Amino acid sequence: MNEFFKKLNIKFDIENLSMTTEDKKLVDQYVTWQKYGASLAKKQKFIPTHATGHYADDEAKNKILKQLPKAVLDLEMPIIGILELSPKESDQNGTPIVFPPHIDPDRITCINIYENINGEETSFYEYEKGGKINKVGSFTAQNGDVYLLNVSKPHSVQMIPNKKRKFFSVYFKETPFEKLLECLNK
Ligand SMILES: [Fe+2]
Repeated sequence: MNEFFKKLNIKFDIENLSMTTEDKKLVDQYVTWQKYGASLAKKQKFIPTHATGHYADDEAKNKILKQLPKAVLDLEMPIIGILELSPKESDQNGTPIVFPPHIDPDRITCINIYENINGEETSFYEYEKGGKINKVGSFTAQNGDVYLLNVSKPHSVQMIPNKKRKFFSVYFKETPFEKLLECLNK
């Protein structure tokens, strides 16, 4: 089993839930550069972009929480957020636009409910002391897919230029990937 991500065999009904973020409180502003991104930049050329996370409104929060197994909520009551990435146009050379490898500052595991995505590739890495970074796996989710992610491991997203990526994300601050996976597989 890979310890980085897992496509889950569950669906969420998120129809009619508000995904606007302008009026919502910030959960986190992801910084563009961590040491992982700086390491990758030594190996390949890319234009960095960044992401923001906002709290979902109460209607969305309650509807999504209701669809999570009780066993999961018993482990930890998660935050329901909306993640947003807004890449610009690429340059004349078509240099890839990447949300550089990072670990999430505010959580260790998440369930991403993908909607409003455009075929971006998410990659995971192993980082060695001394600054070497190696890609160990990747996936490209489709709209409607649900993934469990170990965001305590470095990961990046290769963006589609000019295409906004926005989806609901369930934030777990304390429950590790393996534990959630075990719980979800029951
Ligand atoms: Fe992340």
